Amino acid sequence: VDIHISLDGVGDRTDRIYRQLADAIIDGRLRPGDPLPASRALAASLRVARNTVVAAYDRLLAEGLTATRVGAGTFVSPTVDRARVPRRRPSALQPRPWWRDSEEGPDDPPDMQTAARFDFQVGVPDARLFPQDVWRRTLSHLLRPTARLPATYADPAGVEILRAALARHVALSRAVVCTADDVVVTSGAQQGLSLIARVLLRPGDTVAVEDPGYPPVREMFASFGADVVGVPVDASGIRVEALPDSATVVYCTPSHQFPLGMAMTPERRIELLEWASRHRAAVIEDDYDSEFRFGQRPLDSLYSLDRAGRVIYVGTFSKSLHPVIRMGFVVGPPSLQEALVAAKRLDDVHSDLVTQLALAALLDTGTFATHVRRAKRAYARRHALLSSRLVRDFDGVLDVVPSSAGLHLAAWLDPRTRKSSAKIVQDAALQGIRLQTIERFYRAAPTRSGLVLGFGGVDERGIAEGLTLLRRIIR
Ligand SMILES: Cc1ncc(COP(=O)(O)O)c(C=O)c1O
Repeated sequence: VDIHISLDGVGDRTDRIYRQLADAIIDGRLRPGDPLPASRALAASLRVARNTVVAAYDRLLAEGLTATRVGAGTFVSPTVDRARVPRRRPSALQPRPWWRDSEEGPDDPPDMQTAARFDFQVGVPDARLFPQDVWRRTLSHLLRPTARLPATYADPAGVEILRAALARHVALSRAVVCTADDVVVTSGAQQGLSLIARVLLRPGDTVAVEDPGYPPVREMFASFGADVVGVPVDASGIRVEALPDSATVVYCTPSHQFPLGMAMTPERRIELLEWASRHRAAVIEDDYDSEFRFGQRPLDSLYSLDRAGRVIYVGTFSKSLHPVIRMGFVVGPPSLQEALVAAKRLDDVHSDLVTQLALAALLDTGTFATHVRRAKRAYARRHALLSSRLVRDFDGVLDVVPSSAGLHLAAWLDPRTRKSSAKIVQDAALQGIRLQTIERFYRAAPTRSGLVLGFGGVDERGIAEGLTLLRRIIR
């Protein structure tokens, strides 16, 4: 790359060339082994005499910042000591306060020095189940010269074939009956939710969220200037009678409450929709992991029950495929479609086209369905093992929250247990077990304490061994 050197203004030119190159080496923009431009070429581009550059290079060499090799020119010295000069840029700007309120708490999982031996981290799928070969072949097929994509921007709503595939997919699997025109492709659920916020919220509006709930979504709403109010949940889901009258948006996870794991009951769903109609509020249904349902018949989505056009459905492929592909989607009422597409255009113009086309291929060829069936069998076994072991081996210590979907389980800690949940998480980390407290997902002061155990990152053997170890830690 060209190194930017400025000779504007006054001062000795050799000195200034030397300073700027030395700075680049010390702050790491130029790394050990990187070549410096030939002195003749640099002199020509700066319009100075070659000797001016040569003198600067001599100083760098004398200080040990560079080395030379005959015939190969000047390099950054392999042994350069970058720790010599700490450099900080001045900073006069401060972020708006929502950022300071962000919710990383003291009982976050402690950083593991090494990868956790037993990773019960919540919210991650098993990367080993990802259909890697098909994905690679599909991408490489799309990147072949004959498939060259035009160098223009694509449709902000998402490519038509993907939107059509998504519409078929959710219509079949979740009775979210819609057409390609009702779908906006997003970078994961997180962007879908923030597009909705952009479209619906004015600063100061009240947004009701489940408490406990998913912190990044709360932070996102707060970043738009919303007044985010936590609403308690019970075994049936969000407590509708506790919703603030002022709420214009209600965010919830009806298929698998995050993080507790129960499904919202049919009665509660109806009650919530009636409340939304009476209060002219929007309801966001975050269906982040409903592909993985074990045993029970799926409950009707809020979207499919909605007769008033108040529900916005948000889906993601972060659990069903892989979080790094950043693919999600929003299905809203037709009245919001144009605004959602405009918001997507403002945000990032459109999602990566190659990934969109690859995902469409996976959906259309049935590869996705096959993968989900396979992954679901693996997760069902883990879910069964984890819940049965928690019941069998943690009697009187942990009380499992009944749940038959998703990639994690929650369990309340018996108040008579000597160790706090935070201490358990800390002690577990020392033994190579990664898990989280329920408390860290609360917005209000937690009324109970407990643990959340994900099973995307740990196989059956790991579950059995990890729980044996955990039992010793708790008792
Ligand atoms: C409840 C909930 N909603 C949304 C998301 C965000 O998913 P995405 O990766 O699609 O942005 C997650 C991810 O963990 C989640 O747990």
